[in-house]
This record gives sequence, C-alpha cells and structure tokens, in this order.
Amino acid sequence: MNTTFLKACRGEPTDYTPVWMMRQAGRYLPEYHTVRSRYSFLDMCKTPEAATEVTLQPVDLIGVDAAILFSDILVVPEAMGAALEFVENRGPVLPEPVRDQAGVDRLIVPDPEDKLGYVMAAIRMLRRELVNKVPLIGFAGAPFTNATYMIEGGSSKNFFLTKKMMYTEPDLYGRLMDKITETTILYLKAQAEAGAQALQIFDSWAGALAPCDYAEFALPYVKRIIAALKEGGVEVPLIYFANNGATLLDQCRTVGADVLGLDWRINLDDAARIVGPGIALQGNLDPCALLLPAEKMEPRVARILEQGKAAHGHIFNLGHGILPEIPPEQAKLMVEMVHRLSRKN
Ligand code: CP3
Repeated sequence: MNTTFLKACRGEPTDYTPVWMMRQAGRYLPEYHTVRSRYSFLDMCKTPEAATEVTLQPVDLIGVDAAILFSDILVVPEAMGAALEFVENRGPVLPEPVRDQAGVDRLIVPDPEDKLGYVMAAIRMLRRELVNKVPLIGFAGAPFTNATYMIEGGSSKNFFLTKKMMYTEPDLYGRLMDKITETTILYLKAQAEAGAQALQIFDSWAGALAPCDYAEFALPYVKRIIAALKEGGVEVPLIYFANNGATLLDQCRTVGADVLGLDWRINLDDAARIVGPGIALQGNLDPCALLLPAEKMEPRVARILEQGKAAHGHIFNLGHGILPEIPPEQAKLMVEMVHRLSRKN
C-alpha cells in the first residue's frame, strides 16, 4: 500500500510529495463517460459497483496517490429529505427548498446506514479493490455549503436567500445548520467505520462570507463536526477545504483539522505562516494551469513544491476540482512532474 498521502497528512516525512486531484473521478476522463452513459449521475452514486469503477479510474489511469470516493456532497441533503435532481447541463436542483420552520421540521437526521447505505457499500467494495494500491478518502459537504443548496434550491451567484435567512431569521438558520451538522457527524463517522482512511470536508462556498459572518455562521459548525469525530474515536486524518478562503485562513487554523486545503489564490508558504505548526497543507495549482505546455507547467509545479516545504506536511492538489475540458494526458503529466520533482533519493 502506498501510504505517502497518509504520512503527509500527519506531517511525517515522505519519499516524495503525494498528489491527488479534487473531482479526479469525473468528466475529463473518457472512461468516466463510458460508465456514465449507462446511468444517471445520481444512480451512479447509488450503485456501488459503478461508483467503485469510476473511483478507481484516476488511480489506474493517472497515477494519483489517493482515491476519493465517487459521490456528491448533495446526497446528504437528499438523505435528510430534501428532494434532489441533477438536471443535465444545469447542475443540481432541489425543487423543495428549505426556507421556513415547516421546511426545517420536515428534515430528518437520518441513520447513515439506512439512508446512505450505498455510500458505505461503495467504501467497503473500494477498500477490497484498493488493497496494495492507495488510501481511500471519504468526504462530505460542510454545513454552510450544503445549507446554501438547501435554501437556494440549487447553485447560486450571490447566496441572497441564504444570507437573508442568516440575517433576518438567525434562529431558523441555526436550527437548519444544527440538523445538517448532526447528520454530517454521523455520516462521516459511518464512512470511517466502513473503511475511509481520510475524510475531507468541502466548504465550497465559504469564500462568499465576510470574515465576521464566517466566524458566526459557518466555522462553529465545522468545528463541532471535527471535535465530535475526534472525541468519537475517529482517528483518520481530517481535511478541511474552504474554497476561496485565503482571507479566512487565520480562522480555519482553529477548526481542528489535520490538513487544510487551499485554492490557488494564496502562496503555500504564506499560508503556512498563517496556519502555524502542526497542520499540513493541501493544494494548490490553478486547475486551468493544467492547460499549460510541459515547459511552462513545470516551473509552477516546482514553485508550489518549494513553497510547500514551509508546511508541516504537503499534499499536492489542484486549488479546486479538475475541469471537464482538461485532456487526461495533461493531468498525468502533472502527477508525474510532482513525483519527479519532489523525489528525494
Ligand atoms: O472528487 C471526486 O472525484 C469525487 C467525486 C465528487 C463529485 N462531487 C462528483 C461529481 C465530489 C468530491 C463532489 C463534491 C461536490 N459536489 C462539491 C464540493 C466540491 C466542489 O467542487 O466545490 C459540490 C459543490 C458539489 C455539488 C455539485 N455536484 C455540483 C454543483 C455539480 C454540477 C456542476 C458540476 O461541476 O458538474 C455536481 C455534479 C457532479 N458531482 C459531477 C461529478 C463527477 C458531474 C456529474 C455528471 O457526470 O454529469
């Protein structure tokens, strides 16, 4: 088993810098489309054999040092009772958005084995397939990010309805966040018990918040999740990724995570200075930089590796998900570059 990724998460020395890519199981791979042509996106998430197959693709085809479970953050709102559809070329739609007390009351805190058993089944299947390969990362959305989808009814530009609830009905917002938080604790714990070897919490829209609002309306719930997992005996590394969160890093460092994910808007050495000792960093190549020709990509990869030395541990990644337009050969080139440039003989 290649444990480079797990060692870097814990800040232990490694022979080279491990690398994986957010959204690595996805649409830039022709092999993904082959599987996807047989299922809808959600059915694929709910069919452990299909989820397992596409999770393994980037491990075998691109050579990454970790697998991330193929699923979606929005299976959690769905399991809580919020209807979910993925509309082709439009993304997620939640046709019954949660905007009042009755909406919050209707939501349940589900038993993960009951409502999300297909995720645990995929994790168990993947661990069997990944023996002697790489570790498996499980994940969930952060409560704020999931709440935006539940309140807005889908993706959003300015998060007007979410902020409206935060500002005008803070108690209602708090009750919704409490339910999502409780669900997420049980869900991530179940993933670790099923065999996930690291857990990442995606806070994709944290960067939409002013620092004071992040402190009041988002961070405390992530803190609660991480504390509950650690107190509940979950020992796998916990990664927190607040997208567009460079201005929130001084707060993120207090969240309790072993690793903080970073987007490309900050240099890793600057981030390491803000974060301080004891926390590993993950990131942070601009996903579009995968379009660069090799001779221009290499200095950027080298710079990130150099800056990453300032951290307590560095896992190379993109600053956000890989884009469907990226040629797989370019992703492979980047992974090989990270390995070659960081290898200590
Ligand atoms: O990283 C991986 O490879 C694992 C799989 C994964 C997916 N979604 C598969 C997916 C993960 C970790 C996610 C997380 C996710 N989902 C996030 C957080 C990460 C981020 O990107 O910020 C968010 C915000 C979502 C919600 C979501 N899912 C949106 C907005 C969309 C549509 C827009 C888009 O980028 O496609 C999805 C669909 C989705 N999730 C696809 C995949 C492979 C595309 C579905 C398809 O095949 O049509």
